[in-house]
Amino acid sequence: MRVLHVAAELFPLLKTGGLADVAGALPLALAPLGADVRVLLPGFPAILAGVAIEGEVAAFSALSGASGAARLLFGKTADGIAVYIIDAPALYDRPGNPYHDANQQSYPDNHLRFALLGWVAAQLAQGMDPYWRPAVVHAHDWHAGLAPAYLAAAGRPARSVITVHNLAYQGVFGRDCFDALELPAHFFDREGVEFHGNLSFLKAGLHFADHITTVSPTYAREITTPEQGCGLEGLLQMRRASLSGIINGVDELVWNPATDPLLPAGYSVDKLAGKARCKTALQQELGLLETDEQPLFVVVSRLTDQKGLPVLLEALPELLARGGQFALLGSGDAWLEEAFRNLAYANPRQVAVKIGYDEAFSHRLIAGGDVIMVPSRFEPCGLTQLYGLKYGTLPLVRRVGGLADTVSDCTLENLADDCATGFVFDELNVTDCLRAVRRAYALWARSREWKQVRKRAMQQDVAWRASAEHYFALYQQLIA
Ligand code: ADP
Ligand code: GLC
Repeated sequence: MRVLHVAAELFPLLKTGGLADVAGALPLALAPLGADVRVLLPGFPAILAGVAIEGEVAAFSALSGASGAARLLFGKTADGIAVYIIDAPALYDRPGNPYHDANQQSYPDNHLRFALLGWVAAQLAQGMDPYWRPAVVHAHDWHAGLAPAYLAAAGRPARSVITVHNLAYQGVFGRDCFDALELPAHFFDREGVEFHGNLSFLKAGLHFADHITTVSPTYAREITTPEQGCGLEGLLQMRRASLSGIINGVDELVWNPATDPLLPAGYSVDKLAGKARCKTALQQELGLLETDEQPLFVVVSRLTDQKGLPVLLEALPELLARGGQFALLGSGDAWLEEAFRNLAYANPRQVAVKIGYDEAFSHRLIAGGDVIMVPSRFEPCGLTQLYGLKYGTLPLVRRVGGLADTVSDCTLENLADDCATGFVFDELNVTDCLRAVRRAYALWARSREWKQVRKRAMQQDVAWRASAEHYFALYQQLIA
């Protein structure tokens, strides 16, 4: 079964968030099931630099020449993922973030840059590579949202799936951008790519794909409601029969405390001495008081509205008054960066804040912490709480989206049933959040029970295999 994944990011070559982790891990998890998977990517500099190119598949010029002289290249990543890369320097040869310039401004030709991604996907389904033609095209997020539209325009030469990693990012452009896409004129319609008078890449994908998935069962339900549907809930309700949630997994080649080369000491569920060493090393590195008497709370996150972090700013005074420590790695909204920095400045022995993006530090932080906090406003899946489970760093999360599906609260009954794995709160306010923080302290005070919950957390099956099987079954169903 030939499956083409279409994505804008791929770990470890280019990553702005969890999408890259998924694009870098799911193809590898599908291979042992018998899927022949390739990934189509835009030729951003970091992608071209990270792939051993084996040859040129085709040369073309698309979208009325907007692509410039373009080539489709084929190669393999160091992890062995087979990739097609669209080498179109006129559109992609720009350094840094794939979506916006150094001033955080979206590129004005983003509609063309990502239309080309969908266009090439549809060409591959029509034989652009005479030796490899996909039966299923699997598009990720709005960036690949036009792939199902171009496939529909070509008479559906392959089946299509779109996975929504985040409904809040929709790829909306003005009506005037539509003509350049060279889609049939009648596609600019409510029954098509039109969304409130504009052009929406995500809407296009949701409308034209044969099946829609999102990255957790709870988020699949949530996005059919006005609260979380971002205006697309009507369409998603209509397509309910073709909408499902498949939870993300953890790439255990990258995230495994027993083998993680980025840690000062390795550990596993039966040999936890290394975790204590990771905590001490982290406290040393950050200038925090070196103690194992108090829990260390950590955060690794984009600092955006989605992540609900202002509630932590409100909860931290009590957390610190109880003697706990707090360390954060993240970047994003300037006011949040500033607020967390100030907190660290005022409490240097208890709070450490690192603003920026740092893959290696994120591993040391998650390994060295006792609790990882993810208080999101909404969360399609969330990966850091899964890394927390795997690393015995108990997740403290809001009951929303994939967080609700992956963490069990330390209620008395869950403790009695030995299924508790973390701390869960309901409403995004400081009162509820602090209740969960207090539960964390209560458990911390009962060291034997803490260890049991940590063990249960580390034993959760968060590997990709089960989810890859769900995707595989879906592909089979679509081509049957
Ligand atoms: P989202 O995709 O919404 O940002 P996820 O939890 O799914 O949320 O994925 C975030 C990914 O990005 C995780 O792999 C996390 O470790 C990583 N990450 C987020 N912020 C940083 C940072 N500042 N430095 C390093 N890694 C980060
Ligand atoms: C998005 C979501 C996140 C999810 C990730 C990977 O960025 O915000 O919840 O884990 O995609 O699917």
